Amino acid sequence: MPARTPGGIIKFQAPEIVFGPESLAEAGFAARRIGAQRPFVVTDPGIIEAGWADELTAHLADADLTATVWAGVTPNPKDYEVAEGYQRYRESGCDVIIAIGGGSCLDAAKGIAILTGNGGHILDYAGVDRVTRPIPPLLMIPSTAGTGADVSQFCIITDTVSAVKVTIMGRALVPEISLTDPRLLSTMPGDLAAATGLDALTHGIEAFVSCAHNPLADGHALNAVRLVFGNLPRMIDRRSAGDRRGYMAQASLEAGMAFTNALLGATHAMSHQVGGLLDLPHGVVNGVLLPHVIRFNAAVAPDRFVPLAQAAGLAATPDMPGEEAGHLLADRVRAIGDELGVPCGLAKLGVCAGDVPTLAVNAMADACLATNPRPVSQADLAALFHAAL
Ligand SMILES: NC(=O)c1ccc[n+]([C@@H]2O[C@H](COP(=O)([O-])OP(=O)(O)OC[C@H]3O[C@@H](n4cnc5c(N)ncnc54)[C@H](O)[C@@H]3O)[C@@H](O)[C@H]2O)c1
Ligand SMILES: [Fe+2]
Repeated sequence: MPARTPGGIIKFQAPEIVFGPESLAEAGFAARRIGAQRPFVVTDPGIIEAGWADELTAHLADADLTATVWAGVTPNPKDYEVAEGYQRYRESGCDVIIAIGGGSCLDAAKGIAILTGNGGHILDYAGVDRVTRPIPPLLMIPSTAGTGADVSQFCIITDTVSAVKVTIMGRALVPEISLTDPRLLSTMPGDLAAATGLDALTHGIEAFVSCAHNPLADGHALNAVRLVFGNLPRMIDRRSAGDRRGYMAQASLEAGMAFTNALLGATHAMSHQVGGLLDLPHGVVNGVLLPHVIRFNAAVAPDRFVPLAQAAGLAATPDMPGEEAGHLLADRVRAIGDELGVPCGLAKLGVCAGDVPTLAVNAMADACLATNPRPVSQADLAALFHAAL
C-alpha cells in the first residue's frame, strides 16, 4: 500500500539484502536462515541453460540442502503455470521457495507462495492486500537488472483468458531475502539487458513522481536513474561490461526499493496491458511508453522533474521550469531508447489502433494507476496509447 500516510509516517518495506560478486555462494546460508530443509527452486529453461540453476543447487548442497527444481516458467508468467508450479511444490514436500531468474521466475515463485498459503486461484488475488494469510519464506535471486521483483511487494501474472497482466500487490509479498550476484548478468543477451535496464529506469522515474513518493524512497529512485543513464549502454557494449554489471545490478535493486515503497504510475498500468495482449518484453514496452507518460505528467508534477533531469545527466538548473525539465527528460529517455534499439512506437511491436479502446479500458483497472501524479481518464489513456503507436 502507499508508503506515506497523511500524517507523514513512512513505512519502508525491504527484505534482507545480500549483494555483490560471488554472492551466489551465500545461497545455502541464506536458505538456512529462512528455515529451509527442503528448498523448492523456481526457474526457467534459459537460466538452466546458462548454468545458474546448477550453480545454485551446488551451493545449496554445500549447505546440506537437496533442492527440487521446477523450470516451468515462461516470460510474462501465466496463471496456469503458477497453478502447475503450486501442484509441484505441494507434491515435493518442500518448505521454502527459492527463485532464480528474471522477473518472470520471481513472480511465478510469489504466485506459488500465495497459493500455498491461501489456496484458490492466483487471479483471485489481483488487486491490493488480498493475500491475507502467511506465505512460505522466499529467497529471490535476480538474473536480470531488472525488475526489482526480488525486493518488491508486487507479483505480475498473465490472465490467459482475458489476455491481460494482473497486478497482485501487498506487503505479504515482500521476500525474506534478496540475493544479487551481478555475475548472473554476464549471460544476458544484449536485447534482454536493454529491456530490463529500461524497466529499472521506468521504476526509478515513476517512483520519484508517484503520489506516494517519500523521502526514504526518493534517494534510491534518483540514484537508480543516475546509474542507468551512466551505465546501461556501456554494459551492453561487451568491451566494458564487467565493471558496469555491478552498477546496473545496484540500479535495479535501488529502483526496486524505491517503487515498492513509492509505487508506480501510468506507464506500468499501460505496459501491463500491452504485455498481456501480445506477450512482449515488459521493459521494451515501458521504453516506448515512458516518454509519452513523462510529457503527460510534467504538466502537473513540475517540482519532481528537475531532480530527475539532473540525475539523467541533463543541464537542468534549479530555476528551470519543471515542465521544461520533464520534456528534456522525455527526450533523453527516447534517446537512450534509440541507442538501445527500442522500436519508435507500439505499432512496431504489433499493436493496432483497433486494440487501443480495450487497452485503455483494461489499464483503468490496473492498481499502478492509482499513484500516477496526474489523474488519468480512460480518454487520456486512449490518447496516450495513440500517441505511442
Ligand atoms: N514483481 C515486480 O515487482 C515486477 C516489476 C517489474 C516487472 N515484473 C515482471 O517481470 C517480468 C519480466 O522479467 P524480466 O524482464 O526480468 O525477464 P524474464 O524473466 O521474462 O526473462 C526473459 C528471458 O530471459 C532469460 N534470462 C533471464 N536472465 C537471464 C540471464 N542472466 N542469462 C540468460 N538468459 C536470461 C529467461 O530465461 C527468459 O527466457 C514481466 O512479467 C514483468 O511484468 C515484475
Ligand atoms: Fe516494471
